[in-house]
Amino acid sequence: MKARISIVLFFFLMFLAVSSARPSAKKKPYKPCKELVLFFHDILYNGKNAGNATSSIVAAPQGSNLTILAGANHFGNIVVFDDPITLDNNLHSPPVGRAQGMYIYDTKNTFTAWLGFSFSLNTTDYQGSINFIGADPILVKSRDISVVGGTGDFFMHRGVASVQTDSYEGEVYFRLRLDIKFYECW
Ligand SMILES: *[C@@H]1O[C@H](CO)[C@@H](O)[C@H](O)[C@H]1NC(C)=O
Ligand SMILES: *[C@@H]1O[C@H](CO)[C@@H](O)[C@H](O)[C@H]1NC(C)=O
Ligand SMILES: *[C@@H]1O[C@H](CO)[C@@H](O)[C@H](O)[C@H]1NC(C)=O
Repeated sequence: MKARISIVLFFFLMFLAVSSARPSAKKKPYKPCKELVLFFHDILYNGKNAGNATSSIVAAPQGSNLTILAGANHFGNIVVFDDPITLDNNLHSPPVGRAQGMYIYDTKNTFTAWLGFSFSLNTTDYQGSINFIGADPILVKSRDISVVGGTGDFFMHRGVASVQTDSYEGEVYFRLRLDIKFYECW
């Protein structure tokens, strides 16, 4: 009898364990420990704007050159950039740092770039770097990339940054707005 009860109890506890382990339908309400909104401005070299350009095509697919982005969704182009970061959407605001890295057009049938870059910040509020990586489906209004780490004031920080194209002028200028949310701060 005693054994019977403990078997029933065992299965009951098993049932509880399994049902509580099921992922709940609701998303866990993660709360960021730090948030930052920053803009950066990219002026692509086009053969005529050497003085103002902040980025350059460094690789191009067969049949195209390093002055004009390739047709077919720019597939195969790699661009290296050294862009000013500002606190608002004005290109001429005093920069608070540099966004440096690259984007790779890596999708044949639509506009998608792969981003790998760092923010180097040097202001009275923030000193240090934040490192970003991720796929950027450019045509989507708001897309998320990973914040994989940081240094200085962002030592061991991790999180997610929402990227929005804030302005786009032909293939020469674009401005991205980054809503950076850290979920791990030290
Ligand atoms: C650089 O930008 C300024 C102002 O935005 C413009 O007047 C000038 O013509 C540009 N120079 C080049 C080389 O593109
Ligand atoms: C680069 O390619 C574009 C478009 O295909 C062309 O108009 C331009 O003349 C080329 N530039 C050079 C320097 O070859
Ligand atoms: C940060 O800015 C200060 C003051 O302008 C400068 O002395 C220092 O070299 C800068 N540091 C970096 C890493 O750029």
